[in-house]
Amino acid sequence: MLILGIETSCDETGVALYHAADGLLADALFSQVDLHAQYGGVVPELASRDHIRKLVPLCREVLTQAGKSLADLDGVAYTAGPGLLGALLVGASFARSLAWGLDVPAVGVHHMEAHLLAPLMEKNGRQPPLPFIALLVSGGHTQLVEVFAIGDYRLLGESLDDAAGEAFDKAAKMLDLGYPGGPLLARCAENGDPTRFRFPRPMTNRPGLNFSFSGLKTFTLNTVRDLSPLTDQDRADIARAFEDAVIDTLTIKCRRAVKETGVSHLVVAGGVSANYRLREKLSAELPATTYYAKPELCTDNGAMIAYAGCQRLQAGQRDPLAIVARARWPMTELSPP
Ligand code: KG4
Ligand code: ZN
Repeated sequence: MLILGIETSCDETGVALYHAADGLLADALFSQVDLHAQYGGVVPELASRDHIRKLVPLCREVLTQAGKSLADLDGVAYTAGPGLLGALLVGASFARSLAWGLDVPAVGVHHMEAHLLAPLMEKNGRQPPLPFIALLVSGGHTQLVEVFAIGDYRLLGESLDDAAGEAFDKAAKMLDLGYPGGPLLARCAENGDPTRFRFPRPMTNRPGLNFSFSGLKTFTLNTVRDLSPLTDQDRADIARAFEDAVIDTLTIKCRRAVKETGVSHLVVAGGVSANYRLREKLSAELPATTYYAKPELCTDNGAMIAYAGCQRLQAGQRDPLAIVARARWPMTELSPP
């Protein structure tokens, strides 16, 4: 079964070909970072227009890379939500219409389910036994979920305000590091002194598995204001203190989730899971086996959409002809295929 996957939920146009038996055959990504950098964040209308420009060339590119043609496709998977509605509609309209034209099934994939499943895509990789816990840390979501099967999720906890990735992006902006901030802040923190500042670990001193990162943002802003104008060393020290606080908080909650559920397999997914210091700490300190996607498959990409769509199509899911795009879509509303 050969599936074309299409991701357009935010500022990356991702297209990939996944084969059920042979694995990932081709993967192409166009990042709109340069387009949005001058505005310091994603401009939704510009994102939609750029997805329109890039989808056809990227589809041609993956078919050429894999030596396949449209006639070889057995299905088309696209991100149906959550995300920017205009951007989602571009991918959804293109993918659903293509599938209809080729007379193959289409499946609307939940973006966070695709992130969650991405670490399982590794051919010959270790597969976590069910049930497992997943820490989903992206630019829009921070959630801990218990996974019983594809589409069967129990929400254990989530951020009550900013997502971890969003907090990384905002802290990077305060430090004038640029956009998107997560990887830039992580790089800056490498030169930081971990002993100079200690930032709070929000919501770790009360029970429960929810998160809150907005206070950490305010703490960062106050530290920046107190020290301004900042030297490069100040920036690195603040970045390090911020990163340590986020990583520590995520680790404490994951340890608690493992203890409370008795489940000792943890999948870590979403853009922030590309952070190598987070990966190191979780792997070293949790009483659990940890699973990650390759760094390039942690952030948004078409491969994870093709893979998630393939799992659902193989299990027999057939979506109706409607073009589906949902800006908001709680993962707990999903059902197994
Ligand atoms: O999953 P993703 O690509 O998009 C969403 O679904 O939101 O996640 C993007 C987020 C951004 O906030 C970005 O700053 C963050 O992931 N991120 C990182 C790193 N790489 C990406 N945060 C911390 N360290 C990184 N190395
Ligand atoms: Zn994402």
